[in-house]
Amino acid sequence: MTATVTVRVPAKVNVQLAVGAARPDGFHDLANVFLAVGLYDEVTATPADELRITCAGPDAAQVPLDRTNLAARAALALAERYGLAPDVHLHIAKDIPVAGGMAGGSADAAGALVACDALWGTNAPRDELLAICAELGSDVPFSLVGGAALGTGRGERLRPLEVGGSFHWVFAVADGGLSTPAVYGEFDRLTAGLAVPEPVASQELLDALAKGDATALAAAVSNDLQPAALSLFPALSDTLAAGRSAGALAALVSGSGPTTAFLARDAESAGAVAEALRTSGTCRAVRITEGPAPGATLR
Ligand code: C5P
Repeated sequence: MTATVTVRVPAKVNVQLAVGAARPDGFHDLANVFLAVGLYDEVTATPADELRITCAGPDAAQVPLDRTNLAARAALALAERYGLAPDVHLHIAKDIPVAGGMAGGSADAAGALVACDALWGTNAPRDELLAICAELGSDVPFSLVGGAALGTGRGERLRPLEVGGSFHWVFAVADGGLSTPAVYGEFDRLTAGLAVPEPVASQELLDALAKGDATALAAAVSNDLQPAALSLFPALSDTLAAGRSAGALAALVSGSGPTTAFLARDAESAGAVAEALRTSGTCRAVRITEGPAPGATLR
């Protein structure tokens, strides 16, 4: 048995997030086009006397260290399936913004699952790992697979997508967080009494991804949760405007927010957008990266 296992897991941006009406179970059917981007958390699993979580990084103070942490829940779920004691120390080196709409918690869950599977020698089949991921949260399966994928159902049923190049992204981290259930609740409030169409993936968007065409992708990106996120966090419209006026091809809220995402033409333009956002006073931190990025990977 290996003494220590480290797994690196990417953040994501939703280049399309089409949201249907609330289902009887409270979830929403989605057409969710995920793109993994090169901001990573690292989850390290080490044998211990009992389940223990630690976290380091700029936002570490906001991460729960009890069994509500998705990484802890992933370890518990795998241990239960294989009749093992979940005696593991999981250390999360956190670089993905917390409560930001970039699937940081989901990344930690996928990372913990892959790390414990290797540490404990359970060697669970990929399909079983994906099923555990789907139980843990709608975005967790994508954190495992990475790249780009279309998520349907509540986002957990994945079809991998072809991507013909690398896209340059700038992310503006907001001062504060948004709760995903609260944003979906606001979506329900804003769409009450309206006919919400079935969510469908945009063919233009899938073609743009396949071609690696940033201009075409920018014309096709959309996020049905954006009005709800802006309603709960109106200052985000200033951040979006700052990035747009600095030359971003597209500016949108990332998932349920409040991180905002800016697609840039090339590395140089990304640098200019990042600099403008940094000096705009409309966000707490700015990150430049590229996507697609690989999914959960053993180091
Ligand atoms: O699946 P996950 O735990 O990430 O979802 C968090 C919350 O986001 C859910 O409790 C639900 O309120 C909302 N959600 C939703 N429809 C989805 C995914 C998430 O309403 N497809």
